[in-house]
Amino acid sequence: MKKALILSVLVIFSLVAVSSSFAGGQCPQPRKTKAAPGGVAGKDDTGKADAANGEKIYTKTAKPMACKMCHGDAGDGGGKLGKALKPSPRNFTCAETMKDVSAGQMFHIIKNGSAGTGMVAHGKTLKDNEIWDVVKYIRSTFVK
Ligand code: HEC
Repeated sequence: MKKALILSVLVIFSLVAVSSSFAGGQCPQPRKTKAAPGGVAGKDDTGKADAANGEKIYTKTAKPMACKMCHGDAGDGGGKLGKALKPSPRNFTCAETMKDVSAGQMFHIIKNGSAGTGMVAHGKTLKDNEIWDVVKYIRSTFVK
């Protein structure tokens, strides 16, 4: 009896460990987000953008919450809230998935959100230049 109890506790623990390691860092990662309309995806204004300001937005100031709450400190989609989401937040460190995600695509989704996912629109709380700042931070820090 006691043995069965210990066994089932062990099984539950290992299941939890497996599911949380799957939530972040999955690669290649399925992608629910739609492609930005033509011209937008090819746009790239990160040249003059400020990655340090982007880091502030990503880790602290974005509204309704910091990007890292979902996308994680390491940019792998393993943030505290992200673990509960389906689909999972984008894993920016996954080259195989990110090869199809241009700077302009990121700009468009950060501004307008991604329907049917937890990714909300930030176009009312971030100015265009601030969105380019956070795109530059993500691309220079996490994207390989
Ligand atoms: C509530 C959780 C959450 C927060 C907060 C959040 N995201 Fe997301 N994000 C998601 C999810 C979920 C997706 C969609 C994943 C998919 O396409 O399958 C996503 C997708 C994205 C994409 C994907 C673009 C693509 O085409 O694949 C980018 C870029 C992005 N987020 C950037 C950000 C930035 C920058 C912030 C902060 C300003 C932010 N996110 C805040 C959950 C979040």
